[in-house]
Amino acid sequence: MDNKQKLTLVIEPDPILHQISEKVENITADLDDILNEMADIMGQFDGIGLAAPQVGILKRMIIIDAETIAREEKTSLPEKRYLKIINPEIIEVSKETCLKEEGCLSLPTIYYTVERPEKITIKYFDESGKETKLSANGLLARCIEHEIDHLNGKIFIDYVGPMKRKLALSKLRKMKPRK
Ligand code: CO
Repeated sequence: MDNKQKLTLVIEPDPILHQISEKVENITADLDDILNEMADIMGQFDGIGLAAPQVGILKRMIIIDAETIAREEKTSLPEKRYLKIINPEIIEVSKETCLKEEGCLSLPTIYYTVERPEKITIKYFDESGKETKLSANGLLARCIEHEIDHLNGKIFIDYVGPMKRKLALSKLRKMKPRK
């Protein structure tokens, strides 16, 4: 990967958003550069989570603004603002689910209520290559679940009914300038 490249946000409809991302083989410093650039892009568009395929990189990497999520949830603030998640694996999901309106930086202006597991436990590697386990609930869990979906080529409108999905796609097509 060329770390001088300028990353840009991928907007639906785009085939990249429907592909399965590959595992990261080596956790190197340039990966962290990419994650930091992803954090900048996420901040620019007021997002709280972003997955690598959303900037055109089909690798299993996610960035989450854990601090903004904690402020919104009124929970204790994390040590570091950003949670950098590489090669996440879901090891536990709760049977209990919850409903909440969701959006996605790759689907601007589209918001729908999505049902997701309330709690999740994942294991992953952080940016220094350390294997880590994390249990989350509420908005943090939802955000992690949404971003892991991106790594599997899934977007949140895949959960809504066919009518809503069609409506969202036609809205996005109209909005998207032709290349
Ligand atoms: Co998204």
